[in-house]
Amino acid sequence: MMPDPSDHLADRHFSAIAAIIESRVGIRLPAGKRIMVEGRLRKRARALGLAGARGYGAHLFEDGGLADELVHLIDCVTTNKTDFFREPSHFEFLRNVAVPQLQQRKDTRPASLKIWSAASSTGAEAYTAAMVLQDLANAGAPIRFSVLGTDISTEVLREADMAIYPSAFVAPVPMAMQQRYLMRSKDLRQDLVRIAPELRCKVRFERLNLMDESYPFDRDIDVIFCRNVLIYFDGTTQKAVIQRLVSHLRVGGYLMLGHSESMAGSGIPGLQQVAPTIYRACPTALGRSAA
Ligand SMILES: C[S@@+](CC[C@H](N)C(=O)[O-])C[C@H]1O[C@@H](n2cnc3c(N)ncnc32)[C@H](O)[C@@H]1O
Repeated sequence: MMPDPSDHLADRHFSAIAAIIESRVGIRLPAGKRIMVEGRLRKRARALGLAGARGYGAHLFEDGGLADELVHLIDCVTTNKTDFFREPSHFEFLRNVAVPQLQQRKDTRPASLKIWSAASSTGAEAYTAAMVLQDLANAGAPIRFSVLGTDISTEVLREADMAIYPSAFVAPVPMAMQQRYLMRSKDLRQDLVRIAPELRCKVRFERLNLMDESYPFDRDIDVIFCRNVLIYFDGTTQKAVIQRLVSHLRVGGYLMLGHSESMAGSGIPGLQQVAPTIYRACPTALGRSAA
């Protein structure tokens, strides 16, 4: 159904939504994003049986709907684009540099590596890391691993947990890995694949707002991916988020940023740039000793 061209959020409702989203989620919604936001809210309004974007705004701010609707509002305004093997140089670095180096440092064998995909969207980044590590383990590397994926959007986390994707979406996964780690749907009318249980059991997803003052996760993570989310935040928020993430890295651990976010990592105490968009937690500045 074509949207009604006269259906728009009231100006005050758009401003209120933008203010709430920036303060709670960190994402800026300038006037240029209004059409996009209205389009997404219309879809949500239809699901609730409300009269378009305007009706949705009234529901939030005039009928007391905001508190119950906040989670869905956040789902609507986040941009969740992701891919398997997105920015592949990071996964080559993981395989060829990070894992061999991290393995050397571990005093226990087999080394148990902790990976965190800190804005995981529907899980492609987390499962890509898991495929790379599982391949190394299958090839005889003495490693065990676990992957944590976190995101603010409950909708993408639900999809990440299910680990079911359209076949076209997994096209970037090398064929040998597709054969090893993807299961085709038995129903041939459904062009879907599911991540194999062997990987699913090593990957878990939890909700986390990167804007939170502290993160309730381990402080000995080996590799953190925080890619293609900082671009939505202002400079101060970017630095604060990176500092909090760094405090969860083990000395010698790595932080991978998105390719358009490289500047955000510079000048952060405790981080040393080792390749474009790849940073390493160094012992001196962190005031910790290497494990
Ligand atoms: C464009 S996706 C990037 C996904 C993946 N990292 C990649 O590079 O393919 C950005 C993700 O960041 C999440 N996000 C946005 N603001 C967030 C916040 N404040 N805390 C946690 N996640 C957030 C969105 O829900 C979205 O899934």
